[in-house]
Amino acid sequence: MSYPRRRIINLLKKAIPEEVEIDLTVPEEEKFGHFSTNIAFILAKLRNKNSLEVAQEIALKVKSYTKTDLIEKIEVVPPGFINFELTPKAIQRIFVEILKSKIDFFKPKLKTKKKKVVVIDYSHPNIAKPMSVAHLRSTIIGQALYNIFKFAGFKTIGDNHLGDWGKQFGVLIAAFKEKKRSFKDVTVKDLMDLYVDYTKRMNENPLLEEKAREETKKLQMGDKENIKIWKKFYQISLAEFKKIYKILKVDFDYYLGESFYKPMLEEVVKEALKKGVAKKSQGAVVIDTGRGTPFIIQKSDGSYLYSTTDIAAVKYRIKKFKADLILYVVDSGQSLHFEHLFDSVRLLNYVKNQELVHVKFGLVLSEDLKKLSTRAGRFISLEKLISEAIVKAKEIVSKKQPTLSDREKDKIAKIIGIGALKYNDLSQNRLSNISFNWSKMLNLEGNSAPYLQYTYVRLKSILRKKSIQKFDPSDLKEKAELDLIFHLSEFPEVIKRITKTYYPHFLANYLYELAKRANVFYETIPVLKSDSRIRNSRLALVKTVAMALKTGLNLLGIETLERM
Ligand code: ARG
Repeated sequence: MSYPRRRIINLLKKAIPEEVEIDLTVPEEEKFGHFSTNIAFILAKLRNKNSLEVAQEIALKVKSYTKTDLIEKIEVVPPGFINFELTPKAIQRIFVEILKSKIDFFKPKLKTKKKKVVVIDYSHPNIAKPMSVAHLRSTIIGQALYNIFKFAGFKTIGDNHLGDWGKQFGVLIAAFKEKKRSFKDVTVKDLMDLYVDYTKRMNENPLLEEKAREETKKLQMGDKENIKIWKKFYQISLAEFKKIYKILKVDFDYYLGESFYKPMLEEVVKEALKKGVAKKSQGAVVIDTGRGTPFIIQKSDGSYLYSTTDIAAVKYRIKKFKADLILYVVDSGQSLHFEHLFDSVRLLNYVKNQELVHVKFGLVLSEDLKKLSTRAGRFISLEKLISEAIVKAKEIVSKKQPTLSDREKDKIAKIIGIGALKYNDLSQNRLSNISFNWSKMLNLEGNSAPYLQYTYVRLKSILRKKSIQKFDPSDLKEKAELDLIFHLSEFPEVIKRITKTYYPHFLANYLYELAKRANVFYETIPVLKSDSRIRNSRLALVKTVAMALKTGLNLLGIETLERM
């Protein structure tokens, strides 16, 4: 086993009698070596000693164990960091390992044989409303996490928890009947307009409100006509959502929306009352999770809420899917809801060892987006947004490759435009409010999808020029080569980190760094012009970097091109 990270951790373990978690980071600054650990600070506290002394002691021990050619240099830096520099030989051996395992090298090594089940709740737009920018973020982040978890060896289930039930449908049915509209050519936008118009008038006219309430009730009682209308709304909306999913190449294993859980809600409330977790309060049923506000699971008129369906969904996902981990990719605005939910299902004993995580994200702030919004910033048409990305990408393609046919330009523009849109989202820390700026997103020289895609194209074009013959990896001695190989070796580590933290930007940043190193290599080291012995090793390196770039981009849901 020649995976240096593991080997250094093992050496440290041998030098440290205490049961502590040993973490190796890759320092930002080159002068601090390939790996660094802060373990001396942790031990200094435990041992009540000086961290620098502890570091020196460990470093000395590790040195005495390493007769091999793994470590070039161990250095202790005040106040107690221990830094490791690998030998070229160790790095060359990583390369041999990658060549042997190919794409499997990039997957983290699993500790247990049993596959963990992760359910990812993402996208989840609302029926009869246009998909919003927040839903787009959820879709992009959720799909990336889906791909990454699957790649890492989890049993991964993608579930689109559509907002397809609730009192808004009473309003909509009333409005629909009032206008005697037929379903022909009705779009989600029309439904939204009907809804907005009716709600406005309803607030001044109690009769309209009464009507809407009646329709809701009828729908809940299973009235044939209302169910039929609701189903129509559902179909129209889903067809529009699926158009967007198709362009974005997003896919779900299940579409278990709120309405799916209807038959289970009564039972959920009953059980909560029986277990003493919920209590009646002014006619409603509430769970007190000690967060100041109660979690209402049934209203005084007997109706159920978003909270109730979510509790039922947790129960279902654990029972049916055997979920070990459930991720909710939902904007930060719903934090309190999820805190309430997670507390409640624990109180109800539905959740034992399973982990539930609200994978939060911030808003999208931008001038460029505002320009795209209809009705004074009310909502943004995602189809317009996506087509604008493609149009802008096409301008670039046309400039770079004027001789291509229009069809080819379109095909390339689609991959670049959508890639730019996704990468913009995935390369920024999901917790922060992200910026959205076309020129930055499409900048061929910056941290953007087109830059990464273009780097890939460059590598592929080298590979088309010469085939790879027999080679010896120990010919790769240049710093740019070794840097590149070392960075490749960190791929599985990045994947592992994402399965623990749910931050896809770690992978985006990793790929950006890989592309930068690949470009340094490409610009400073002759490949095709070098003599045949070394050329073949360099070509093999180019091939491996291309494979890593493609694998990583695909995990983010971004496609690569052979030419652009
Ligand atoms: N449909 C909801 C909305 O648009 C999001 C649903 C999130 N998922 C969940 N299980 N609550 O706000």
